[in-house]
Order: sequence, then C-alpha cells, then structure tokens
Amino acid sequence: MQNKVLKILMDNKGYISGQAISTQLGVSRQTVWKAVCSLREKGYEINSVTNKGYILVSEPNHLDEFAIKKYLHSNIIGREILVLDTIGSTNDYLKKLGGEGCTNGTVAASREQTKGKGRLGRGWVSKKDDCLSFSVLLRPKMAPNEISVITPLAGLAVCKAIRYFTGLDCKIKWPNDIVAGNKKLVGILSEISAEFGAVEYVVTGIGINVEQCSFPKEIADKATSLLIETGIHFNKNKFLACVLEHLEDEFVKNDLRFTHSALAEYSDLCITLDRRITFTRCGNKLEATAVEIDKNGELIAELDDKTRLSINSGEVIVQGIY
Ligand code: BTN
Repeated sequence: MQNKVLKILMDNKGYISGQAISTQLGVSRQTVWKAVCSLREKGYEINSVTNKGYILVSEPNHLDEFAIKKYLHSNIIGREILVLDTIGSTNDYLKKLGGEGCTNGTVAASREQTKGKGRLGRGWVSKKDDCLSFSVLLRPKMAPNEISVITPLAGLAVCKAIRYFTGLDCKIKWPNDIVAGNKKLVGILSEISAEFGAVEYVVTGIGINVEQCSFPKEIADKATSLLIETGIHFNKNKFLACVLEHLEDEFVKNDLRFTHSALAEYSDLCITLDRRITFTRCGNKLEATAVEIDKNGELIAELDDKTRLSINSGEVIVQGIY
C-alpha cells in the first residue's frame, strides 16, 4: 500500500486529496492516512493541507527501495532489489539468497555494514549512510575460469557511472579499485559459488565512498569520498540507479567478456599503466613498469631486463598512489 500511495504522490505535481487517492486505490481514507504516516517514518516529507490534500515535498536521501526503483530503467540488474538498514556484509547476505535460488540480477544494498569484507581478507568500513554498499548476483552460463573478467568489467562500469553522474575525473587502479586524486574511492569484491565445473552464481560487491567527510587516521591518506572530492551531497538513490544501469549496459553489450572495446576503454581509464609498480613473485619483491592489460584482464609487467610477466591477482603497489 505504501508503494502505491507513494507512486501516486510522485506522479502528481500538485496537491492530491486523500479521497482521490483512496478512490484510485479502492481503499479507505484511513488506509491512505496510515500509508502516509509510514512513508513519513521512512524519511519521505509529505505535507498535508485541509481541503487540498497531500503533496510529496522531498524523498529521503538514504537508500530506499522505492526511490531507487523510481530512477532505475534496467531490465535485469535490480529487477529484484532489497534495501536493508543494517547487515554484516551485503556479499554474505546475497550469497545466502543465491543458495536459496534468487533470480539473476538480484541486488542487495544496505545503509550500513557491520562486517564489510574487502579484498585479500581485509575489512571494509561502511558506516550508516556514508558508503554506498551493495552487491549484485549474476548466474552466468560460464566455466569458473571464465568469470574473472566480471570484476574488471564491473570496475569499468562503476568508473564510467561516477564520471557521468558526478563529473569527477576518476580512474581505475588495476584490478578493480576506483581512485580519485590518487586516493581510493571504490572497492570491488567478487565471490563465486561453483559446483561440478559450472558457476552457480557470482556475487560482485561494490563499496563507493559517498558521504564521508573524513576517514580514520589509518586510512586517511589512502581513502577519499565523493563529498570530499566534489563538495556535493549526491542523491544516493538516483546515483545507485545510475550505477546499476551502467553495470547492466557493460555486462550486456560485452556479453560478460572482456571485449576489444571494453579492454580499450578500461586501458584508457587505467591509472596503473605506464607507472612503476612493485609486486611479489615466488616470495621475491620485484619492481617493474606496468605496460598492458591483456584480454583476460591480467596486468602485464615489464622488468628492467625487458622480461614480461603477467599478474592476475594479489597486491600491486603503484608508485604515487596509496
Ligand atoms: C576492496 O578491498 O577494495 C573491496 C571492498 C568491497 C566492499 C564491498 S561493500 C559491498 C560488498 N559487501 C562487502 O562485504 N564487501 C563489498
């Protein structure tokens, strides 16, 4: 009922009477009134004036399922979308739903994570309404060794979405961080469930720093947010819808492959290329120049003796960046 009343209020530019809403929905005015009260509790500002009725003044700027759906024009990603107030990790939550058979493209987002997970066993801090924390579940018909390109494709989509939505000149730090001004803005963590050589589902979790005005001192010189970079408070529901649309666009047009054009765009936006990097191989710390990304999304490093090595995971330190 709340969603139906909200849709009418959103579609209506001026005031609309409680009677008109109750007639449209075939319910009592009391039911409409209760729905309005519940919407107000969720953060929707709705004015009511005697003899005029109701008007929607503003929507909440915290994540809200209905508000996201209002802005979202996708076919697969976000067809099912769940917004939680708090959760340990949206990746863990969505993996559980994946095991229970949720549909391809399901999205789980949370206003807060209490046990957010990062790459390489690290944590990810997501305080209430600061970070856009969400996960997307896909059921690709692929072998487990083919899905490694999903994360860089997601990185490309998120980078393009941020550039489009905010105008910020952000870049991709291989393999899948998004950086702004040499500090980390976005982290991505994909997890896979496979059985008998086939992928059951892939959960790609994305954390975008949106509203933080500062970070704990351990990461203060490494992390940044959209607010710090632009000084703007963005509409999180509209922004999430934009990111989900970019994800769908990139996944569909590239058929979940690292196509020639995806690779070219990724390489153009990749801040790691042409820089000196440090990485570990067989326990040895090596220094090289990052020269190329290959069609599997691997980073090609050239040692000073011109030997080329491909790096597919692990930590790569890029000089000049956190
Ligand atoms: C990284 O270490 O850079 C990856 C961070 C990924 C964080 C996101 S937030 C949403 C999703 N849920 C998690 O627990 N982690 C990912």
